[in-house]
Amino acid sequence: MNAAELLAGTRVVPVVVIDDPNAAVPLAKTLLDAGLRAIEVTLRTSDAIEAIRNVAAEVPDILIGAGSLRTPDQIEAARAAGAIFGVSPGSSSRLLDAVDEAEFPFIPGAITPSESLALLDRGYDLQKLFPASIAGGVPYLKALGAPVPEVSFMPTGGISSDNAAEYLALPNVACIGGSWIAPQALLADRDFDAIGKIAVSAANLANAG
Ligand code: 3PG
Repeated sequence: MNAAELLAGTRVVPVVVIDDPNAAVPLAKTLLDAGLRAIEVTLRTSDAIEAIRNVAAEVPDILIGAGSLRTPDQIEAARAAGAIFGVSPGSSSRLLDAVDEAEFPFIPGAITPSESLALLDRGYDLQKLFPASIAGGVPYLKALGAPVPEVSFMPTGGISSDNAAEYLALPNVACIGGSWIAPQALLADRDFDAIGKIAVSAANLANAG
């Protein structure tokens, strides 16, 4: 199963930066209870792999992904910890070869039409667009959809409750991602009530879109 199939119907993916691996399990449960079915833990902190391992073991109903993947070693570590999909802000042939070999559901990143077409050639019809708002946001995605209609995107970067619906309304946006649902400050305070409220709004957005 590829990432597009795995995430079919999932419209909002919380992207999290974990500083405390013990926060990952209550966070994943909070998101799931709110109606969100996937989480992307970014490999930007030393605790990210342990966080993925904890979630995979204790919250099996959530689709647990590893984000910010940049090297084959990270792919191996994420898979070994239990990640069932991976996301990268970009791609390299080394990375794509490793993903192919592992048959790991993967969302590589593209910004330009050439990057997007190169990934489409390798079979990726779901691609990440990061940093979405800086790359041009909703108007840019609209423009990309005209010459490259086969590709669906997961934009992330600069998405919030204020603009999420605009992204979700685009025909070439399969899902959106972002850290606004579980911001680091709320995670540091272990304020899962506040995260839960944001997550419910995000899940409602997803249902409405
Ligand atoms: C990502 O890795 O996708 C981004 O860091 C998410 O961007 P955001 O923090 O602006 O939501």
